[in-house]
Amino acid sequence: MLIQTAKRLLQGAILMSTLAAAAIHAAPRDLIIDTDPGADDVVALFLAMASPDELKIRAITTVAGNVRLDKTSRNARLAREWAGREDIPVYAGAGRPLVRTPIYAADVHGEEGLTGVPVHEPKQGLAKGNAVQYLVDTLANAEPHSVTLAMLGPQTNLALALIQQPDIVKGIKEVVIMGGAHFNGGNITPVAEFNLYADPHAAEVVLGSGVKLTYLPLDVTHKVITSDARLKQLAAVGNGASQKVVDILNAYIKYDMDKYGMTGGPVHDATVIAYLLKPELFSGKQIHMTVDSREGPTFAQTVADWYGVLKQPANVMWIENGDAQGFFDLLSTRLARLK
Ligand code: RIB
Ligand code: CA
Repeated sequence: MLIQTAKRLLQGAILMSTLAAAAIHAAPRDLIIDTDPGADDVVALFLAMASPDELKIRAITTVAGNVRLDKTSRNARLAREWAGREDIPVYAGAGRPLVRTPIYAADVHGEEGLTGVPVHEPKQGLAKGNAVQYLVDTLANAEPHSVTLAMLGPQTNLALALIQQPDIVKGIKEVVIMGGAHFNGGNITPVAEFNLYADPHAAEVVLGSGVKLTYLPLDVTHKVITSDARLKQLAAVGNGASQKVVDILNAYIKYDMDKYGMTGGPVHDATVIAYLLKPELFSGKQIHMTVDSREGPTFAQTVADWYGVLKQPANVMWIENGDAQGFFDLLSTRLARLK
């Protein structure tokens, strides 16, 4: 009798440990990264491409934003080459916003869109076909609510795909967006952040689609900032990828540190990938948010009703805080996996 009980207990323990191991190694998340590289976009791409156990990157889709589309697409292919992940297709998408006149941020990211490092024409080219059609085809045929979208630039590609075929929402698990500002104020106007300012109409289309949305605005990205110690931490990784990140960040952070008198610079887009990898590093709450696309001083403002005064249903998870050191610890350990 005693032996039988012991056997059953042992079997139970083995089952529990098997289940626990399975839970730890859950299936990787199907992910499409939409991006306008972009200095911080490249850091985000490195972090994502170094995390294949958690993120199955189906494709990188590019959009005009920080610089023109030909350069954002070249830079996405460069990041892919530097990370040794040429298994990931890069599709070029929209070359201009839905409605407004195009704006760029070469003053921040450099004329080539990638400050701090020399660029070259990558060996591997673009995938055939436009990113918008790729989004439509992929999301329309995906398992229900299976694909996550990480949006690191203006939301033009996803907006065009939703306009073309609204029912693609059924293939979307969630959309995690770097963009917007509330408590922090804007980085282009007193109220508008660049990704929203570059295409507020696209952001309205995405917001109106009803997909599960998480925003990482300047409220959090301006808290997750570099320091001399954190840059040294990245440099100590001692490989090509980490050195590129240090060189890029040393050049990229100057603009924000000078403009805001900050002690360090943000790595905006990489917080989106860190959120997907370790959401426990971040905090926020479900709120009601609207985007103002009217011409005028509040153009492209994200009106975040943090205290619920409008009594409107919540439509976004608004992240307003993050563990900065935890972010840099994660970034350092993942960069160490690259060459
Ligand atoms: O405001 C920051 C955002 O604008 C980031 O995505 C950066 O890459 C720029 O696109
Ligand atoms: Ca970006």
